Amino acid sequence: MRILYTKDVNTTMISFTGFDKTINNVYKFNQDHVFQYWSDLTDEGKTTLLKELSMVDFELMNKLYHQREIKIAYNLEFDPAPYIPLPKSKRDIEEFEKAREAGIKYIGKGKVAALLVSGGQGTRLGFHGPKGLYPIGPVSDKSLLRIHAEKILKYSEKYGVSIPWCIMTSLDNHDDTVRYFDENRFFNLNKGDVIFFSQKMIPSLNSEGKLILKSKNSIFMNPDGHGGTLTALHASGVLDDLDGRGIESISYFQVDNPMMRIIDPVFIGFHIINNSDVSSKAVRKLTSTEKVGVFVKFNNGKLGVVEYSDLSLDKQNAIDDDGGLKFCMGSIAIHIFNISFVKAITSGKTISLDYHLAKKKIEAYQMEGNVEIDGFKFEKFIFDSLTLTEKNTILETLREDEFAPVKNKSGVDSPETAKELMSNLFRRWLTSKSCEIPDETKMIEISPLLAVEPDDLHDNITIPPEEKVYLE
Ligand code: UD1
Repeated sequence: MRILYTKDVNTTMISFTGFDKTINNVYKFNQDHVFQYWSDLTDEGKTTLLKELSMVDFELMNKLYHQREIKIAYNLEFDPAPYIPLPKSKRDIEEFEKAREAGIKYIGKGKVAALLVSGGQGTRLGFHGPKGLYPIGPVSDKSLLRIHAEKILKYSEKYGVSIPWCIMTSLDNHDDTVRYFDENRFFNLNKGDVIFFSQKMIPSLNSEGKLILKSKNSIFMNPDGHGGTLTALHASGVLDDLDGRGIESISYFQVDNPMMRIIDPVFIGFHIINNSDVSSKAVRKLTSTEKVGVFVKFNNGKLGVVEYSDLSLDKQNAIDDDGGLKFCMGSIAIHIFNISFVKAITSGKTISLDYHLAKKKIEAYQMEGNVEIDGFKFEKFIFDSLTLTEKNTILETLREDEFAPVKNKSGVDSPETAKELMSNLFRRWLTSKSCEIPDETKMIEISPLLAVEPDDLHDNITIPPEEKVYLE
């Protein structure tokens, strides 16, 4: 659908002190429809619009539009990626124990920081405001962010070291996120160890390659995808900050998984023992159509993740010799990045992760009321950085131990399923500690301040015979 312009586009070139280069670019790239409401704007409104436009890389947008029919190049053939499976034999168990010990030592030396990506828009969940504020505690209604914060506090206490926590926001949710931390006194974390930084924004385009007006003086932009994390870490100076604190590894996670083991000594242990640039956790896919990316090894020897929407039907349904799914290792978006790797790939200004394109419905501004138009949104994916690594580790983990994604309003991967998964996990922790759970008890929640793993719990905790039980 075309955007119907409600006003004539200015025929004379506009001018405004201090923005000559931006204005020239707008005209050079035939995007001057963005000035169609120019005469209605105050100087402040004009400045806002021009400031936004000054952030646009017109050359890049032009290129991305002209490449829109080219699917991101999975033109390399690929096989399933090798991975460390769940421990089965006595030897495996010993290996895992060795990794845990190495991880504990390393964390205790203050070598690990946590990194949360929280810049996304959470549109599927239909929640207004930053997704991290969504109440997810099955009994307490604690928000996703509070749960993550309390875990980090507990890990810091457990390992005797204040763990720096970097939080990536975007223009859309930065102020609200920071205000939430302020209002909650940073959940008792050391304020100096919570480091916010913002990712870049990139405009969306309509089907004719034009910028889309969101209002008279603003264009439609979206965060540049979590693939923008590494560049944003570098550009914001956070990478240097972490380096200065002696951090060597960054534990990366998404805001939407309240069961994430943010600091996992076993995973960290394998990462350092294998001297990996990047390590990733994987779970066995439930069904061929489950919406998770799969770990692959390209025939150039590099590892990567192929996103669910990019995996052909043949490959989705391919069966291995044992009759199971061939591409069975699903990415749950949990990674560890070596600081030296991130530095190496970002120090040459930017890393060259490709943009993925998604066709989306976008609200465009019109004087008579907004209209929904077809548009293109561009995003980089963090897991594309795997193809730049020399050494990786992929570690299989049990989904019921650490994967409860909150993506949709209802049905699969919804708050309802996540709460159920959390309660089931806590039930298993208590059972492993010989706790009797009364029949009446349907929902259980354990505060991260009490335990981030079953071993933090005492034996024989008494559970009251109530439908909802909260242990803190
Ligand atoms: C994602 C992964 C998928 C993985 C699944 C596991 C992608 C493209 N796919 O799917 O391979 O199996 O999670 O749960 O990521 N974010 C930003 N900035 C952005 C975009 C996203 O910080 O510009 C953050 C979000 O806040 C969120 C996370 O990245 O924490 C995931 O983004 P989302 O778009 O929800 O990814 P999914 O499609 O759910």
